[in-house]
Amino acid sequence: MAKPVTAYVCQNCGASSAQWSGKCPGCEAWNTLVEEVVNARGADKSSHGGNVVALQSLNTAIPDAPRVSSGLAELDRVVGGGLVPGSAILVGGDPGIGKSTLLLQAAAQLAKSGHTAIYFSGEEATAQVRLRAERLGVADAPVGLGTETGLAHILKTLSGRKTAPDLVIIDSIQTLWSDQLESAPGTVSQVRACAQALVRYAKRSGATIVLVGHVTKDGQIAGPKVVEHMVDTVLYFEGDGAHQYRILRAVKNRFGPSDEIGVFEMRGDGLREVANPSELFLGERDNASPGAAVFAGMEGTRPVLVEIQALVAPSPLGTPRRAVVGWDSNRLAMVLAVLDTRCALQLGAHDVYLNVAGGLKIADPAADLAAAAALVSSFSGVALPAGNIYFGEVSLSGAIRPVGHMSGRLKEAEKLGFTAATVPAKPGEDAEDTGLQLDAIAHLSELTARLAPAEQT
Ligand code: TYD
Ligand code: MG
Repeated sequence: MAKPVTAYVCQNCGASSAQWSGKCPGCEAWNTLVEEVVNARGADKSSHGGNVVALQSLNTAIPDAPRVSSGLAELDRVVGGGLVPGSAILVGGDPGIGKSTLLLQAAAQLAKSGHTAIYFSGEEATAQVRLRAERLGVADAPVGLGTETGLAHILKTLSGRKTAPDLVIIDSIQTLWSDQLESAPGTVSQVRACAQALVRYAKRSGATIVLVGHVTKDGQIAGPKVVEHMVDTVLYFEGDGAHQYRILRAVKNRFGPSDEIGVFEMRGDGLREVANPSELFLGERDNASPGAAVFAGMEGTRPVLVEIQALVAPSPLGTPRRAVVGWDSNRLAMVLAVLDTRCALQLGAHDVYLNVAGGLKIADPAADLAAAAALVSSFSGVALPAGNIYFGEVSLSGAIRPVGHMSGRLKEAEKLGFTAATVPAKPGEDAEDTGLQLDAIAHLSELTARLAPAEQT
């Protein structure tokens, strides 16, 4: 019998090398290499006697991927219109954010609508999961519940059924272990091997597999990163302790758009779907105070209105503070530089704080103009008009560049009762008739000129 081949695998990034060293050659982390068996004997017997694969042409008619609704519209939206049979989904997120709650609710909804859903919990005992189900009011849903962490037992349970289940949830991938490998559960090689076996099961059986993965800051336990390339869809569940809402974000999706978000609110009785996020994000708005601007942004295919708040105050420090929550600090630096250089606004000796209300993280470059409006408003002490929204990209010259999805943004604003919009001067071709009063500006200085006079008073 051949001696098992081992390699030293970095527990942080997954790089493997033949020799041990104190520092990982891949990610340069210290003390992360652990010896692991790489040839899991007997794991893949098919490689010895192969079969001839029947090749097909690219234009073979393939029906559209059928979809199974999870019963949660926001989850369906994020995965691209429902769960795809035979696909594997990874749901990542910080511990305690609500992954188990979300998936138990989805499993229960699916089971209630006549599909089969199986939930394997490796982290919580049956009683705990039952308690949660009771709290969520779904204890009567016919979900098959198992508490098992052995991969072989899980696969045996699944493949022993007469018909494959529609949905299998593994909570979490870090607790699974395969007896083919000697390393401990949660190590990169265990996580990878277990994920691979489950993805293979999904493809073979047509079941949708959902893997839960914890994101860990320290590299001790393999994060879901090593699994991302194996699965079809990667979703991240985000949120912070201070806010009740949670955002489910698609970062990779083979069956749909990858920038879609689903919004939920965590309540005493579980997650509630938020069909209209703008109302939520604008909920606690105080539109009389300076330094707040409403941004009409796009999250995937859905327009979302959020308030951007800025505070500009003279700094007692030699190096003024710049702090930003929910936006890119490099973009803030850029907008400040443009305000300083192109609009002659002396912000150099001021502390600047920028906050996206509600805990949303914005990546849309169209937020530049709204951020600039909030900054100028706070600096000059003049509140922005209450019914006005802002969007547009600011270029380094100070010019306001057109952005996509004009009409979508304007429609959403109109729906929520806004009356005016400050937008780029050269609207894109998708500009449409709107009930809003459009205020098109070509350069950022047009905005600052309007707000400047009160500065002297
Ligand atoms: P959980 O789904 O266990 O998180 P994860 O699986 O991502 O670790 O959710 C844990 C948190 O959610 C916990 O702090 C309590 C809160 N929670 C509620 O507020 N309401 C509820 O109905 C449930 C079930 C949980
Ligand atoms: Mg959990």
